[in-house]
Amino acid sequence: MKLSRQAGSALLLASTAIATDPLTADRLEADIKTDELQRVLWNLNHIADRNGGNRAFGEPGYKASVDFVVERAQGRFHPEMNTFIQPFNHTYDKTLEIKVTGPDGEDVFVISPQYNPATPLPGGITASLINTPVNDEAGSMCAESDWDGIDATGKLALVKRGVCAVSDKLKFARAKGALGVILYNQAPGINYATPTLGAENIGQLVPVGIVPLEAAEAWIARLGAGEDVVVSLLVDAIADTRETWNVISETKEGDPNSVIMLGAHLDSVQQGPGVNDDGSGTAALLELMGAVKNYKGFKNKIRFAWWGAEESGLVGSLYYTSQLSPAEADKIKYYFNYDMIGSIEPIYAVGSDENSGVGPQLLEEYLVAQGKTVERGGFEDGNSDYVGFVELGIPTAMLFTGAGEPWDPCYHQACDTLDNINWDALTVNTKAAARALARFANDLSGVPARATTSPNLRGRAKITQEFRRWKRVAEEGASHGKMCSHKEKKVVV
Ligand SMILES: *[C@@H]1O[C@H](CO)[C@@H](O)[C@H](O)[C@H]1NC(C)=O
Repeated sequence: MKLSRQAGSALLLASTAIATDPLTADRLEADIKTDELQRVLWNLNHIADRNGGNRAFGEPGYKASVDFVVERAQGRFHPEMNTFIQPFNHTYDKTLEIKVTGPDGEDVFVISPQYNPATPLPGGITASLINTPVNDEAGSMCAESDWDGIDATGKLALVKRGVCAVSDKLKFARAKGALGVILYNQAPGINYATPTLGAENIGQLVPVGIVPLEAAEAWIARLGAGEDVVVSLLVDAIADTRETWNVISETKEGDPNSVIMLGAHLDSVQQGPGVNDDGSGTAALLELMGAVKNYKGFKNKIRFAWWGAEESGLVGSLYYTSQLSPAEADKIKYYFNYDMIGSIEPIYAVGSDENSGVGPQLLEEYLVAQGKTVERGGFEDGNSDYVGFVELGIPTAMLFTGAGEPWDPCYHQACDTLDNINWDALTVNTKAAARALARFANDLSGVPARATTSPNLRGRAKITQEFRRWKRVAEEGASHGKMCSHKEKKVVV
């Protein structure tokens, strides 16, 4: 028995990379295993299960996610990795209760956006509805002139969702005297995603409840017939400042003045466990870290970042980039962003700009060789953690497999679980990331220098400003069912 056990461990050793092996694209690609990615995502899903169903900023599930990554980086991989935790603060918000009661005393299905202000409590607001014009092309009631001639004083304004920022609709409703807004979804049904009003708008908005299109259509018909339609809205919400964390772990191997960086966000939204968004990127980075630690002799240092509070407005990554001195930024030769790379009906989107060098090509070549159709896009949407890096002029590329119908119908919802992953997409994308990383770890040819003049370049002062302003709620074609391009990926309005 003893003999066979020894034989067993010898076999195991033979199949594992030896610490002196050079890092090659073929080796790193071969190190990425679907079952290991599955194991990480099982753990993240389990963390959410045990912590109220999410891994969101300010919630215990996020802390547990940090502990999980740190255990790997600092525990298991300690001999090869240096790990540190970067704390920062952000405004936490949670809707504790939301309730809409219709004109016949009926409970109406309703969801609450992030950063929804509270109504007076315990009674909420009971008021007559006032209907407002619809503009499905430019968005309804987002321009000040849309409200010309409307006096919503003492009323609940009925406004259609979509295309433009919900926060703008609420700002103008407030200016016109509305007590609150009943926002109705632009597509039928109750399976719609949760928007954010943005922490930067705290104190400037009226409370809102988002109800189904069908409910509003019935009320609009009754208003059209001259009826006084009285509705109640109750929102109980809290907002406070909470500390949260980025986790940064880098190889001891490699030149500290020449760093390849990879990032994924570690937080989910409050509505779900975030297995695709962004457990997928988190798992990819953990597996890449587990692979690169087996090799020595590569030229450039490899730094992994798991960002906090991305869903609240790219807060962790903007904090990180806002803290970099120009000299520190110069040392980061490339940034890869991996956010949502295992969508159930994937597109294979490679994002880049004119300063990305050969990075996107490396990703694309592998995906195409695997029979995937690659779509190329830019960084115009500004909706993932690459923003701070692009603004510093650091060459950047990203992978993304789509959010919302049809790519990820569970986007920002409770059903973003283990069942919401396309394992082939996640594996192939992680292998593409492995090959690009191996190439840059050894050889930076085809990578431009950090740009000091580029259309995207805004510099550190601007990033700091952005970090303070948090994420602007950009314009987009919809909630559920209407996201028509990966450029619009992360924005829900
Ligand atoms: C976060 O806020 C707390 C309490 O105000 C403060 O003690 C801490 O220094 C802050 N942390 C950072 C990183 O700013």
